[in-house]
Amino acid sequence: MSQNEMPIAQPFELPCGLKLSNRIVKAPMSEMLGSGDNQPNEYIYRLYERWAKGSFGLMLTGNVQVDERYPGLMTDMIIPSKDKLDITKWKQYANICQSHGTPTIVQINHAGRQSPLGKRPFREPPIAPSPIPLSIGDNIFARTLQYLVIGTPIEMTRAQIDEAVEKFVEATEFMAKAGFAGVELHASYGYLISSFLSSKTNRRNDEYGATSKDRMRFLFRIIDAIRAIVPQTFAVGIKLNSTDFSTGGLLEEEEVYDQIRWIDEHGGIDFIEISGGTYEHDTRSKRTNRLDTNFIEFVAKVRKTTKIALIVTGGFRTREGMNDAIRSDACDFVGIARPVCIQFNLPQILLSRDIPDNDARAMRYNIRGIQLFNLIPIKDISSTIRVFWHNWQLHRVAIENREPDPTLSIHGKIFSIFLTKFKKIIPLFVLSFAILYASFL
Ligand SMILES: Cc1cc2nc3c(=O)[nH]c(=O)nc-3n(C[C@H](O)[C@H](O)[C@H](O)COP(=O)(O)O)c2cc1C
Repeated sequence: MSQNEMPIAQPFELPCGLKLSNRIVKAPMSEMLGSGDNQPNEYIYRLYERWAKGSFGLMLTGNVQVDERYPGLMTDMIIPSKDKLDITKWKQYANICQSHGTPTIVQINHAGRQSPLGKRPFREPPIAPSPIPLSIGDNIFARTLQYLVIGTPIEMTRAQIDEAVEKFVEATEFMAKAGFAGVELHASYGYLISSFLSSKTNRRNDEYGATSKDRMRFLFRIIDAIRAIVPQTFAVGIKLNSTDFSTGGLLEEEEVYDQIRWIDEHGGIDFIEISGGTYEHDTRSKRTNRLDTNFIEFVAKVRKTTKIALIVTGGFRTREGMNDAIRSDACDFVGIARPVCIQFNLPQILLSRDIPDNDARAMRYNIRGIQLFNLIPIKDISSTIRVFWHNWQLHRVAIENREPDPTLSIHGKIFSIFLTKFKKIIPLFVLSFAILYASFL
């Protein structure tokens, strides 16, 4: 197939007029590179310089926190208070991302009930639509950790809701000034916006929670307030997650189709990104599972529910799989996250006419040592460790200025972190051990 016929190589124009040269999107990935003032730094620049050369049609940054009091992690990129905000750093970030012509959209987020720490008094709980604590497991270990680290969130007052809307608006206005092409509202994974959407985490009786449509009000207020201040050419998207809607997730499945229909009717949105499963399954290994099938069915129903441009993220690894998804009209774009922590130029491989279909795919790798974490009784621990492993790959490039290493083992990395952090006390440790040993002789 020639490159011109490939669905992934086709250009696309979003309703705001933003032109994208192909259908491959770098999906958002929290870089965990925030330090000092948590604004863009040399490490972030080095990382995005690599992706900028990768020939993506669109890049979505890792989540940037709109309120420094409630970040997801203290290593996130964070928009600080106005007196500390340094627009030159963000302009440089936008310039680097777009230096090879790929429009870049910033994912903006408020961690809500999932903010263990932030620039707020120690042990002050996070905020959420209702005071429902996060569950990380039912055993005593998980419950103690939950109690000590995260606590029970405080129910937001109307003034706090207004303030949170304002934070999203200020963040958007700022990103437009910095030169980014748009923002993506992070409305998934249980963070603040998604916790408003769900009846499990939003038990309010007021206009922000009394009915399913009321639970959309927080999101709609943000969209309207953003649209009122940004130029028409600025893109606004939303990220939703299918596992937020499946059994055990935050929403009932039928509820979400209503929500997507309401988002469509409300207007003001250029695209929806959905993730949460594995869209493309490896036909060579003939592996598939119920979750994959659910995800594919979910995507198909979303597609029937809305005409908004759809990015599907999750499990895309081969040119054929990506082309099939777009050709069959399941989505308009494919988002790729984990593979581009190892191959920064993956889109070039996928789009190259000289590379046959069989070779046009992401590198296969197994994360060495991940099995050990399945034994720890904390919900989602091994998927969290997988995320860390991918972050370590990003850090090799960004901090150490080295290439990613798909053979990196988790135990090896933990050991090397331990050595680096405790280098100074190792002689003391060895000496104490020697004294103890000698005293037994
Ligand atoms: C290291 C890492 C960080 C991530 N951070 C974010 C994030 O900040 N925001 C977000 O919406 N999704 C985040 N994700 C999820 C990805 O965007 C994506 O939905 C998921 O990895 C599935 O796509 P994949 O199979 O191509 O990796 C992250 C994933 C990884 C591996």
